[in-house]
Order: sequence, then C-alpha cells, then structure tokens
Amino acid sequence: MESLLSASKRKLLIEAAWEVCNQVGGIYTVIRSKVPSMVEKWDNDYILLGPYFPQRAAVEFEPITHDDGTEIGRVVQSMRSRGLDVQYGYWLITGKPRVVLFGIQSLGAGLDQVKYGLWQRHGISTLGVEDLVNQVVGFGEMIRLFLTELAEESARHVDITVHFHEWMASSGLPDLRQDNVKIATVFTTHATMLGRYLAQNESGFYGKLPFFDWQREAKHYNIEAQATIERLSAQLCHVFTTVSDVTARECEVFLGRIPDLILPNGLNIVRFTAVHEFQNLHVKYKERIHEFIMGHFFQSYSFDLEKTLYFFTSGRFEFSNKGYDLTLEALARLNYKMQEANMDTTVVMFMITKQPFRSVNPDVLHSRALLDEIQETCKAIENELGNKLFLSAASGEDINLPDLNQFVDEYWRLRLRRTIQSFKTKNLPPFVTHDLVQEDDMVRFIRQIQLVNNAHDRVKVVYHPDFISSTNPLFGLDYGQFVRGCHLGVFPSYYEPWGYTPLECVVRGIPTVTSDLSGFGDFIMQIMRDYENRGIYVVNRKTQTFNEAAEQLANILFRFVRLSQRDRITQRNRVENIAEVFDWTNLRSYYDTAHDLALKRRKP
Ligand code: G6P
Ligand code: GLC
Repeated sequence: MESLLSASKRKLLIEAAWEVCNQVGGIYTVIRSKVPSMVEKWDNDYILLGPYFPQRAAVEFEPITHDDGTEIGRVVQSMRSRGLDVQYGYWLITGKPRVVLFGIQSLGAGLDQVKYGLWQRHGISTLGVEDLVNQVVGFGEMIRLFLTELAEESARHVDITVHFHEWMASSGLPDLRQDNVKIATVFTTHATMLGRYLAQNESGFYGKLPFFDWQREAKHYNIEAQATIERLSAQLCHVFTTVSDVTARECEVFLGRIPDLILPNGLNIVRFTAVHEFQNLHVKYKERIHEFIMGHFFQSYSFDLEKTLYFFTSGRFEFSNKGYDLTLEALARLNYKMQEANMDTTVVMFMITKQPFRSVNPDVLHSRALLDEIQETCKAIENELGNKLFLSAASGEDINLPDLNQFVDEYWRLRLRRTIQSFKTKNLPPFVTHDLVQEDDMVRFIRQIQLVNNAHDRVKVVYHPDFISSTNPLFGLDYGQFVRGCHLGVFPSYYEPWGYTPLECVVRGIPTVTSDLSGFGDFIMQIMRDYENRGIYVVNRKTQTFNEAAEQLANILFRFVRLSQRDRITQRNRVENIAEVFDWTNLRSYYDTAHDLALKRRKP
C-alpha cells in the first residue's frame, strides 16, 4: 500500500545555483538554456533557487505579488515573517520558470553562527576567507533553511528532488543530509577547484594527477574552505555527477568519489527554417568585420579582403588553461608555412578575453573614425557626381561619358585627399586594441614570437582584451554575430571541464578546433567518428608534448587556409547539421536519469 501511495506522489524538481538570475560564466548558460526543455517536462513543478542581487534582478526577474497558494509560496512567506529577504517570482527568460532568490545580507550576524556550525559539524574552516566565500556560505544556509521547511511542510505528499550546481550552492548540503531532511539530492560539479588551480600552476598536471594530496594542495593554494565544501557535497549527495569524463578523473582524486553519471552540456537550438539563412548571415557579419579590418590595418598597408580569413578564440584569461599559448605558437608556424608556400591569403586572428584596461587605444579609435570620414566623403562625392552627371547627360548633346573630375568640387577633392593623408601612417597596426593596465602574458608571448602585424606577415593578430558586446565601439556586433562573421573558432584548451565556445561555433555553422582535454572534445570523439570531416578538429593534448600539439594545430590551420571557398561553404553546412545533437531536448535525458536515480536511492 505504502509503495503504491508513494508511486503516485507528485514530484517536484528544484535546481539551485549561484548563477540563477546571475550571470558569471558557463553555468549560467547551462541552466538558462536548459530551462525550456525542463519546463516542458516538469511544467509548474520546476523551481530554481538563486542569490538576490537587486540590480541584476531588475532586468531578469518579475515578482509574484499575490498569494499563489503553492507550497513554495507558503515557505517564502514564512521565511519572510522571520525577517529574511526572500524574493519569489518568475525568471524572465524563455520558459519563464518560477524562481526563489535569497538576499544574503538579511542573515546578518547569523552568518557567524553558520560558519561556526560548518566548522563544528563538518570541519569546514571559513576563517579569514575571501568575501565571495562568505556570501556563498550565506547563500547555502538560506537554501538549507528553505529546503528544510519545504520538506517539513510537503514531503508527505510530494517527492522533492534538489539538484545543486557546484560548491557555490551546496554549503548547506552536509547539514541537510546529516539532519535527514526528506529530499533526494543531486550534486553536479562543473570543474574541481583544485584542478583549475593545479592545471594552471603545475606543469605536467595530468601525469601527476593520481598522486596529489588534496588537503595539502588546498592548504597551499588557500582554498581549503571551497575544496572541503566541494568534497563533502560530492560524498554526501545521493547522486554525484560532473560534465565530462575528463573532469570525472579529477573528481576521483580530489573529491574522493567517482561520479555516478556524466551530464553533458547542451544548448537550446533554434534553427532557421530557410536552410541557407545562416550562410547569408555569415556574409552579412563578415562585412562588418571587414570594416573594422579596413580601419585597423589599411592605414598602414592593405590586403585583399576577398582572400582574408577570420579566426578567433575567446574565453577567460587563463593563459595556458585556455591554450592561448598553444594557439599563438601554432599561428607563428602557420605564418611561416604560408610564406614558404607563397600564399596571398591573409589570416586575421582575434584573441578575445577579459583583462583590466584603461580605455580603447585612442589610435585605434581614431583610425576607425577617419575611415568613417573617408566613407562619408566618398558618399558625398558620389552624390554630387551623380546629380551633376545626370543633369549634364539629360541636357547635353554629347552622348559620350564626360570627364567626371569636373563634377567634383575642389572642396570635396581636397577634403578626401586630406583625410586619406591623415589616415595613412608608417606605423604598424597595433596588435592590442586597448590600453592595458599592465603588460600581460599575451602581449609578451605575441612579441616573443614576433607576430606583430608586419606587412609581410600572412597571419595578423588582434588582441582584444574585452568581451564582445553590441555596444563595443570597434565592432558594434554582439558575440553571436561576431562568431557568425568569422571562419574558424580555435579552442585547444589544456584545462576545460566542458567548454561552450566550440559548441557556440557549431550551432552557428562555424567550424571549430577543440582539444581532447576539453569535455566537449572528449564527448565528440565518443559519439562521432567523422567529426573532422564535419569541421570539428580535435588537437591531441593528452599524449602529445606542447611542441607536438603546436605542430598538429599548425597543420590543421594550414589545411584550413588552403580549402577553396566552395569547400568552406560545404563544411559550414556539415557543421551546422550537427547542432541538433546538442539540443537540450536530446540531452535532457541525462538529467532525467540523474533525478530518477536520486529518488530511488533516497527510498530504495
Ligand atoms: C556563404 C554565402 C556565399 C558566400 C560565402 C562566403 O556561403 O552563401 O554567397 O560566397 O558564404 O564564404 P567565405 O568562406 O569565403 O566567407
Ligand atoms: C565551468 C567549466 C566550463 C564549463 C562550464 C559549464 O565553468 O570551467 O568548462 O563549460 O562550467 O559546465
């Protein structure tokens, strides 16, 4: 009888993450893009928990102001009556799910009590931690309070499953388990804290991986609190998961538990009904990149834009983790190969990341403005010339084309000459677009390999130390449009639990380079045989040295620059065709499995 009853119980799914209504990095993309397909399955029985930051919420959040009679609404009311800042409403994204956001400040001095509890009960020391950790601990506590009350109020007639993303949402999980709160728990880590630090600082990280002592390293990098919360969450949840097999190996060493399941990341894929629309968009946005290139390079020298290819990389400034070093090294070799082969193609590589800068380099802005002025002057001349030519043609006797020079005012001629003159310079086009606060590894490396935009170089470099957005004065494109305008994305990461950037190329029909140390690359190799044929190139960084991998990448790029335009068009079609594989309507099933398993484990 009991089992019959429980089989018919209503199910509620809750996902908790620091990046709900709060964009920081990749986890925001995971959750936000997944919402439509979660809502499709769970409808109103799907709730998200996140932190409350009024400024961010102002754009993405709409409060529910009436009593909606749900268990969630009641728990929110009850927490508010105890003086806690709890916001309840809709997240204004596709799918419009219900969210509960926690104002961490409202815990006040209670936070010290919580921190003491973490130490007392679980040996998690948060003494002298950075402020972010304090905030996260407050967030975790409010989630714990919420779930405890929700379970008390409704666990009798509702099966509650809670999915925690990363340690930043899970500091309350050890208590929830120890207090036997009636919820089924899934914990997903999107990286390991120690992996990220060690990959960056220890050469030969993967070879040494099995031998690291997690506690010693956590102390050394001063991330004991973070690493311990992560480790306890992994060990105490009902179902432990991560985003790729690559990260699963780290979990075993640093977190002491092999993940039960791998949950690959997807996107919400919206394909055009007209098949070739994405090819047209490529041409459209490439034109916009051409404009930037003219402004940036043509004042020093020019090259044939019809024979120019745009490559790019983009990501956080983790110089070697993201493989920026490998990319630059391979580009230097590509430059040499193209010169040897006497090619007249030009490659422009955009290195897009985020570093502290004072402003856009004034020279770069200035030349962009001059180019606009040249364009305006040409338009004015075109106009004047057109009118006068028309008049003369209609009224004259002579049927031959007259000397057009006579139709252009001295003023415009002079103005054009002056603008062109001030546009031209003997300096080389700068390889950084911004005035950096500090010279960084990227600048040093570019100088060292001498990819400094000499006229004879076939490979040019534009280092743009700011993320692309539509308000950006240099491109005026949003990130997605910029990607579409390029020919190839280059992401040969050394440390990358998943990595959305190659996937973001694929869904726009742009070929891409990834590595077998990134979760995405590892996954593609498992599910597809002819990935290379379809425009996904995987650099082997697992077993090759830096030098070998650089040569492999240089050869991949060299092959790509020799493709004919027709080959490129075909390849874009093939890449775009893969997109559907990564739609959440296909990949949600991995999540479904995790949630089912958690419920089974809670009540075998
Ligand atoms: C798309 C358009 C073609 C255009 C091509 C340019 O396929 O439909 O009309 O010629 O892009 O390709 P490319 O690789 O040279 O930028
Ligand atoms: C983390 C990982 C990144 C992954 C993202 C989403 O930020 O570093 O590789 O794409 O989480 O899972």
